[in-house]
Amino acid sequence: MQMKLETPIKLKHIQIKNRLVMAPMCMYQSDNTGVVKPFHEAHYYMHALGGIGLVMVEATAISKHGRISVNDLGIWSDDHIQGLKVISERIKEAGSTSCIQINHAGRKSVGQYPFAPSQIKMDGKDVLPKAMTLLDIKETISDFQKAAIRANEAGFDMVEIHAAHGYLISQFMSPLSNQRDDHYDIKHQFL
Ligand SMILES: Cc1cc2nc3c(=O)[nH]c(=O)nc-3n(C[C@H](O)[C@H](O)[C@H](O)COP(=O)(O)O)c2cc1C
Repeated sequence: MQMKLETPIKLKHIQIKNRLVMAPMCMYQSDNTGVVKPFHEAHYYMHALGGIGLVMVEATAISKHGRISVNDLGIWSDDHIQGLKVISERIKEAGSTSCIQINHAGRKSVGQYPFAPSQIKMDGKDVLPKAMTLLDIKETISDFQKAAIRANEAGFDMVEIHAAHGYLISQFMSPLSNQRDDHYDIKHQFL
């Protein structure tokens, strides 16, 4: 079969109408509360109406202290579900599949006291992050789980966990930012 951009694709049980994917892209259009604004409703709807098969919503913060900026979308509270639901419903109404990317920025987070796998500054940043305790790690895993549940409640077809671009999960996977000597050390990340 000849594969074309308009050829549908099935990912597990989810049928996507074509091969066009909108990459997740932070729009920095919310405010300190992280709620969905009319901008986001229009922005994602417009792309779905334009024919994109899979519309991915930008990196959305799983905790308030894990935001990239103070204008990030948030999914750290049940109060975010209603607004996110409007986005997923509009994407569906336009005939597209919806995904939301969930993220914690680790030492790249906004604010004075970011945390990270180890107490190592990021190049070009003055802030010295706090090395995460085992309890911090446990709570962050739980924040990711709660965010995924909220994404489901908000009607998204898929969730993507952001594990790139130097944010928290990729900090755990790099020897430059992970110099732990416990179960979360760099060796364990690749076993
Ligand atoms: C304004 C802007 C915001 C972005 N925000 C995100 C993001 O939230 N999550 C993410 O994984 N990548 C983000 N990226 C990276 C893009 O999703 C994409 O991977 C990158 O632009 C490369 O895409 P390309 O290989 O199709 O050119 C962003 C890129 C831009 C330009």
